[in-house]
Amino acid sequence: MQDYMKNVTVIDHPLVQHKLTLMRDKNTGTKDFRMLLNELSTLMAYEVTRDLPLEEVDIETPVAPMKAHVLAGRKLGIVPILRAGLGMAEGVMELIPAAKVGHIGLYRNPETLKPVSYYCKLPSDTCSRDMIVVDPMLATGGSAAEGIRIVKEAGCRTVRLMCLVAAPEGIKALYEQHPDVPIYTAAIDSHLNEHGYIVPGLGDAGDRIFGTK
Ligand code: PRP
Ligand code: URA
Repeated sequence: MQDYMKNVTVIDHPLVQHKLTLMRDKNTGTKDFRMLLNELSTLMAYEVTRDLPLEEVDIETPVAPMKAHVLAGRKLGIVPILRAGLGMAEGVMELIPAAKVGHIGLYRNPETLKPVSYYCKLPSDTCSRDMIVVDPMLATGGSAAEGIRIVKEAGCRTVRLMCLVAAPEGIKALYEQHPDVPIYTAAIDSHLNEHGYIVPGLGDAGDRIFGTK
């Protein structure tokens, strides 16, 4: 295994894989694409949060006292990278309703493929939260790396990336810039084409979510 693959978890749950296939299909329209992304995000969040720490507390059930587990450790935050990350945020919030939500606006310059920043609003206590950055596509890795850099610059020490489809090029680039950041994805695809699109991928995620093409 390549070194840069060691931070990657592929979520191969059958429901995740089935829904991803439906999303990839070019005949899937905006309404279904959006609904599937939302459902997938909830399923994936379940795996992304699998290693959250627990602590024991004393409670009483109607039958007897017991020691039971509750979440411990730092509170969570969700940071969608606009636009396409917005399609994942609701699904994650269904599982983590108390999470605060930051937004980072980035678009990829179609010529240079470099991310251009246009918006940022993070929770004021970002430095004391564990953040999950969400964006369906990890292509060159430029947008995710920049989004994570911004979150770290705000003081956050623990960041995870949740995406849907990743290219090997993006995984490698992200590892080089943020070797401490685990990546959770539903698929690792073949490569990028000459326009920086993931092959086979699912096309332009933002356009398919919002119906802008
Ligand atoms: C897409 C996607 C990622 C980025 C991935 O956004 O949602 O943010 O491209 O590409 P990269 O890994 O090469 O940076 P896009 O720039 O199309 O903006 P949009 O979500 O606003 O449509
Ligand atoms: N952004 C997308 O939306 N899709 C890709 O395949 C690459 C970047």
